[in-house]
Amino acid sequence: MKIAILPGDGIGTEIVAEAVKVLKTLDLKFDMESALVGGAAYEAHGHPLPESTLKLARDADAILFGAVGDWKYDKLDRPLRPEQAILGLRKNLGLFANFRPAICYRQLTHASSLKPELVAGLDILIIRELTGDIYFGQPRGRRVATDGHFPGTEEAFDTMRYSRPEIERIAHVAFQAARKRSKRVTSVDKANVLETFQFWKDVMTEVGQQYPDVELQHMYVDNAAMQLVKAPKAFDVIVTGNMFGDILSDEASMLTGSIGMLPSASLNAKNQGLYEPSHGSAPDIAGKGVANPLATILSAAMMLRFSLNQPEAAARIEKAVDAVLTQGLRTPDIYSEGTTKVGTVGMGNAVVKALA
Ligand code: IPM
Ligand code: MG
Repeated sequence: MKIAILPGDGIGTEIVAEAVKVLKTLDLKFDMESALVGGAAYEAHGHPLPESTLKLARDADAILFGAVGDWKYDKLDRPLRPEQAILGLRKNLGLFANFRPAICYRQLTHASSLKPELVAGLDILIIRELTGDIYFGQPRGRRVATDGHFPGTEEAFDTMRYSRPEIERIAHVAFQAARKRSKRVTSVDKANVLETFQFWKDVMTEVGQQYPDVELQHMYVDNAAMQLVKAPKAFDVIVTGNMFGDILSDEASMLTGSIGMLPSASLNAKNQGLYEPSHGSAPDIAGKGVANPLATILSAAMMLRFSLNQPEAAARIEKAVDAVLTQGLRTPDIYSEGTTKVGTVGMGNAVVKALA
């Protein structure tokens, strides 16, 4: 089982170290190799996704990824910015299916910014298409406008687009995932305004006919944003495009108490996967030892289940995370009165101990 370890920038290095520690506690043999990515790779090699890092990722069964980015790189040309590393990995490896489960642990019901009764028992799965949409659509750029409201002035533009096969394959992923859960899919679109998302809705409906046992509902993205904070438990599987999925998954994370709890898996057609916390590099708290490593540790569990065929080891890690929360251990992002505050390493150590 070959795992590429790409910690990246900011808190990425701190949280990935804890997840690696947890993996090493299991009685499984992994071949783990690390490489620089993001700003760290730019500093060392002049590129956020060096050829050597891409090759390591390509040759691995799974990739454990931390986070990339820092404000200090905001002035670089776009192709050299740290974010291009994660976008490049997604594109180059064809990681089109992004799973972002939002589960509210019973121990954290009070850590959410919503009323406890709204989030208690919450368990939703956001499936975000990850290699298409306005994120990757061409053409894009800057130019002098020849039409529009202000011809002759500077303008910028991006292209939102989806092809039929791109929508079909993510639809199948969503319907199949729903079959293993409560058999309900909400497809989120903006069909009332955008041609791309009218097409999305039409193709979703078509594919849905192959899954008569699964209930398909369509919802506009603005309404979905509202329903997520109004009655989040009404959702089960949400499937949506790259951009809407980016936004809605951050919103959903807050239902669980903290974005520091949200793991993710990004899979390609061969089940090769990249596993990363849904949060970013958090440069404001980097190096302070306070970041929550649980999203990354839970991402490692998803890796064991989805790409490495080790469901028992995955369940053991998830149980250990549950146990440390029951012990009352909390990093600052999920801390509340009456619990015990620990740092990144303290939390990692506690998970290791709970595994033993
Ligand atoms: C995410 C992040 C990325 C995205 C950034 C870092 C490019 O926000 O994984 O959600 O927009 O997809
Ligand atoms: Mg995001």
